[in-house]
Formats: sequence, structure tokens, C-alpha cells
Amino acid sequence: MGSLIDKFGRKITYIRFSVTPRCNFNCVYCNSHTPEDDKSEEFTTEDIEFLFNVAGKLGITKVRLTGGEPLLRKDIVQIVEALHKVREIKEIVLTTNGYFLKFLAKDLKKAGLNRVNISLDTLREDVFKSITGVNGLSLVKGGIKESIAQGLLPIKINTVLMKGINEGDVLRIAELSLDYPVIVRFIELMPVKGSDFWRKHYMSFNEAKKIIRSKYELNFTTGSAGEVATYYKIVGSDGKIGFITPVSQHFCAQCNRIRITAAGKIYPCLFSKEYVSVWDAVKKRDESLTKELIRKSVEIKPKEHGPIDENDQDFINNMRELGG
Ligand code: 5AD
Ligand code: SF4
Repeated sequence: MGSLIDKFGRKITYIRFSVTPRCNFNCVYCNSHTPEDDKSEEFTTEDIEFLFNVAGKLGITKVRLTGGEPLLRKDIVQIVEALHKVREIKEIVLTTNGYFLKFLAKDLKKAGLNRVNISLDTLREDVFKSITGVNGLSLVKGGIKESIAQGLLPIKINTVLMKGINEGDVLRIAELSLDYPVIVRFIELMPVKGSDFWRKHYMSFNEAKKIIRSKYELNFTTGSAGEVATYYKIVGSDGKIGFITPVSQHFCAQCNRIRITAAGKIYPCLFSKEYVSVWDAVKKRDESLTKELIRKSVEIKPKEHGPIDENDQDFINNMRELGG
């Protein structure tokens, strides 16, 4: 046993793991899909099982599977099963674009998945196509319904706020929290797709809050520990509405996470220029070296990030590899 504590006293208990950089969508705000991704290296199910057995011994209790699009992995159910077998890991969650979820929710639940976060930026089919490049709105809605039916609760819906693109959807997406047991979270656009796109479409969480308040009374409420969102409730609803504000206010003091890419690079922070690679150590099944490298990644974790620099190429590359 052991635990991972960084130089600033933060205890690291949470790993965000990108199982693949591949994606079947091509969202306007995201840089995640490039042709090289289709050839890039990815850990096998067995590698993942080894890596997270070691991470469990270091005090990791929560894992989020991300991408790219994690459901593109043919072995995604087996990956969840492997993580579920690690005694120390109490919470396995997944972030998805929702496209394949309808067909996988049941098996994922059975394998031990606790919850899902689903990206949904609009409720209009034509706008959905123009944001993601894919005609997928009805499949994603089906995925959300199936996840509710399978009890992958509470479901979180992630909506990136984009002025001139989806501000007209803010109210209707917020209203999902009235009709379904979901937590809707609005996320401020980060400058991943170049500064021109960001300047044109950035919208602060306050503007979204104003749109919702034009129709509903919103009361402040709490989230669970370690959460990066600030939560509100529409008076009388069971669901919640959250705002994630990476641009207007950062949340580094409560940070409890590190990030690992499909090819084994550990990033202590989304904004780090430095990473530690565990690829070789994992491939060799070298437990003590893997432990040492995970510890090292925590040692170099920065206190906080500065203001987001729209021209910071490292940040842009990190977002590409880590999927946020
Ligand atoms: N700005 C804000 N959030 C982003 N995401 C990806 N790119 C960006 C960006 N430029 C987040 C979205 C998406 C998730 C997979 O990553 O929340 O739903
Ligand atoms: Fe944590 Fe880095 Fe995000 Fe700050 S920027 S909250 S340190 S991951």
C-alpha cells in the first residue's frame, strides 16, 4: 500500500485514462481526431490490468475512461471488467460522445461501470451535424435513455458553451434536469481549436446562467467532494445544473488527479509541458519501476496553471492527446 501526495499536500486518488485517441466524431471545439491517431499505439487489455493493479496499490480509488471516444475500443467491456477486479478501485466512470452507448450500456453496467458522462451540445439535428460532423443526435439520445434504464446514475451531460452556435440550446438542455435524473454541466470553451474560433465563440458561464434565470429560479447547491463544477438547482427539480469554468476561474487547489494517455504518457496536469512515460515499464510488467514512475509524475505536478494562453501549443497538444 501507499499513497500519492504531491508537493502541495494534494492527495492523488483519481486517474483519467484515455484508452484511445481515435474518435468517430470531429467536433468543432476539439482537436482530437487526426489520421495519425488511427495508427497510434494503445495499451492492451492486459497492459491496462497490470497498470491499474499497480495504481490501486498506490491509493488510486477512481478511474475515468476517456478518449478520443472510448467506446471505439472493441475491448472496452473487458477493460471495465479488468478495472473492476482491482480491489482498491471503487469508482469506474466513462466519458463518451454517446454514439455507441445504446448498444453497450447494459454490458458496461454488468462489467462494473458506475456512471457515464455524455457530451451533448445541442438538441437540434442540423446543429448536431454541424458541431460533430455526424448525424447522431437520435443515437445519442437513445444512449442517454438506455444508460438511465441500466442505472448508470447519476448521468452527467456535458455541454460546451459556444456563442453563436448553441446558446439557443442552453435553456432546453438545462430543462433536461427537470425531466430526467441527469446532471447537466455547461463547460466554458477552451482555446483548443485556435484563437480565432475561441474569440468568436467563447461564452462565459455567467451568460448561460442568465439565460436559464430568464425562465427559472436557480438555487446554489453542492456537488460531491473533489468536483470541479459549481452546482445549482432549478427550484423544484431533482436534477442539477453545473458550470465548469476552466477559463474564468480555475480549480487547481482541489485537484486530485493525474492523466494517462493510451500510449502510457502520464501528465500531472492538463497544462503540463512535462510527462512521464510508463509504456516500457508496463510492457515489461515491471511493478517497482511502474510505481516509481507514477510517483515521479505526482512529484512534478504543478501547483496551478496560469491563465489559459490561447497560443500555447503544448496545451493544445495535451488537449488533443488527453481529451480534456
Ligand atoms: N473546450 C471545452 N471543453 C472541451 N472538451 C473538449 N474540447 C473542449 C474545448 N475546446 C470537453 C467537452 C467534451 C469532452 C469530451 O471534452 O466537455 O464533452
Ligand atoms: Fe488539476 Fe491541472 Fe486542472 Fe489545475 S489545471 S485542476 S492542476 S488538472
